[in-house]
Amino acid sequence: MDQNQKKKAVGEAAVKFVKPGDIIGVGTGSTVNYFIDALAPIAHEIKGAVSSSEASTEKLKALGIEVYSLNDVDSLDVYVDGADEINADKAMIKGGGAALTREKIVSAVAKKFVCIIDDSKMVDTLGEFPLPVEVIPMARSYVAREIVSLGGDPVYRQGVVTDNGNVILDVHNLRIDAPMHLETQLNQIVGVVTNGLFAHRGADIVLVADNNGVKEI
Ligand code: A5P
Repeated sequence: MDQNQKKKAVGEAAVKFVKPGDIIGVGTGSTVNYFIDALAPIAHEIKGAVSSSEASTEKLKALGIEVYSLNDVDSLDVYVDGADEINADKAMIKGGGAALTREKIVSAVAKKFVCIIDDSKMVDTLGEFPLPVEVIPMARSYVAREIVSLGGDPVYRQGVVTDNGNVILDVHNLRIDAPMHLETQLNQIVGVVTNGLFAHRGADIVLVADNNGVKEI
């Protein structure tokens, strides 16, 4: 199977976590797009969704799925999303698609986080994928200097404005041995909105597609 076939297989496999009457949290990215497509046959059975991006919202609405504001929902039955990297503790780097802040907010409200990945995303140590950090635009240079003092190499993601009107710094050359600690440390820099480490709230279930099919971890 090539990578797209794996993404499709794992997106389809995640539908089993969606039950009639659920309000589900939906992430962002090419793997999640396959998950949304696979919701089509049961779209009329679910109560609705809370989305983590304008892109996912559009796809959900096209299927006739009601998209709720998170402020109108007390809890979500399940949150389904991809990842850029995941380690054995189910801590992740996310935000390759620049949707990390809304993803972190929506996943915080969910009872269960189901992470859907192809096997290329599994790593021993997080950090080879540059860590996205969403930053208030006026704080960009300050935050970049602070990140350099932590040993990272921030690169401004040119031309990208998040759904929240902010910018992204992609931090290269970090070897992330203590993901929870770094997640907290980065959040303490004034001007940082969110960082793409999902360690305090990691995944509960990982569905991973490899050449033999989809397995659950
Ligand atoms: C979006 O901001 C990300 O967190 C995605 O979940 C992540 O980049 C995985 O994307 P793909 O499913 O496109 O690989």
